[in-house]
Amino acid sequence: MRLASTDLDVFRLCLGGNVFAWTLDEDGSFEVLDAYFAAGGNFIDTADSYGHWTSAGEGASERIIGRWIASRGNRDQLVIATKVGMSRRRPGLSQGAIRQAIEGSLERLGVETVDLYYAHRDDEQTPLEESLSTFGALIEEGKVRYVAASNYSAQRLQRALELAASEGLASFVALQPHYNLLERAYERDLAEVCARWSLACVPYYGLARGFLSGKYRPDGAMPDTPRAASVRESYFNERGFSALEALDEVADAHGSTPAAVALAWLAAQPTVLAPIASATSPAQVRQLVDSARLELSEQELLRLSAAAG
Ligand SMILES: NC(=O)c1ccc[n+]([C@@H]2O[C@H](COP(=O)([O-])OP(=O)(O)OC[C@H]3O[C@@H](n4cnc5c(N)ncnc54)[C@H](OP(=O)(O)O)[C@@H]3O)[C@@H](O)[C@H]2O)c1
Repeated sequence: MRLASTDLDVFRLCLGGNVFAWTLDEDGSFEVLDAYFAAGGNFIDTADSYGHWTSAGEGASERIIGRWIASRGNRDQLVIATKVGMSRRRPGLSQGAIRQAIEGSLERLGVETVDLYYAHRDDEQTPLEESLSTFGALIEEGKVRYVAASNYSAQRLQRALELAASEGLASFVALQPHYNLLERAYERDLAEVCARWSLACVPYYGLARGFLSGKYRPDGAMPDTPRAASVRESYFNERGFSALEALDEVADAHGSTPAAVALAWLAAQPTVLAPIASATSPAQVRQLVDSARLELSEQELLRLSAAAG
């Protein structure tokens, strides 16, 4: 799938990298990356700050991905996305913060260029002109190919796009918002901005942190993962279980799984190019990539939307 106006061709499911050095050690991370790549996946998402909540510290996810790329020698077959702006060491999107961050990311990833460089979140303390000019300079220097935004409000995203157009600055080609079957704020006003400006939507938490895989059930044992308590707090309610019921039904009809159906629903929404999801085993990866072959009918899409509406 072509990513908006770029020359990047990406797999329909982007592999999330926040699990590397967290819920997966390095060997487990390599297994997941190998399984995704073997299934045809080429689009990997990480951030300079990932790992800050682990003993390995921030940068750990990029470091693992970098060592995997080096050992597999497959850099040219990948689209690598990373982010700047939420480092504990130097947060924000000032020229100095971006300049420092890109050097660290390139070094940890062991690559010469980042394909897609996201502003991890808006920075209202730094003028947009400063961030966009710095991103433009990185593109000219070949350190970054394209830039994108994550966690922006519709209003600020629109402002950044207008400014880039009127001032000839680097323009965002994609948006990475929090969006899945149970988190629908994106549909209110961000989707319209993405549609109007032809941005690719690459939503994160595609599986609602694992809830939409169907392994959380009201009467079942809690899954053994550090995510379990927060997932339970967010989604153990009538709406969450109604979504699971609809996912089960559609998955049965396709001989598939709730995880794959949840991601296929997301991929079918207007403006969405490729959902992001992570996995902690090759078996989970197989369910995620299965979403890329699933075509849901209009009726199934409506049934799912309504169940979690
Ligand atoms: N831009 C941002 O601010 C932002 C914020 C958050 C995340 N992200 C990006 O989005 C990616 C995805 O988010 P996420 O990884 O936190 O959440 P997610 O994709 O919604 O959930 C993934 C988790 O669900 C579980 N899972 C996945 N497939 C499964 C299956 N088939 N069966 C059972 N369980 C399954 C795994 O965790 P367990 O095995 O541990 O249960 C997996 O790590 C991240 O890795 C990161 O790259 C971006």
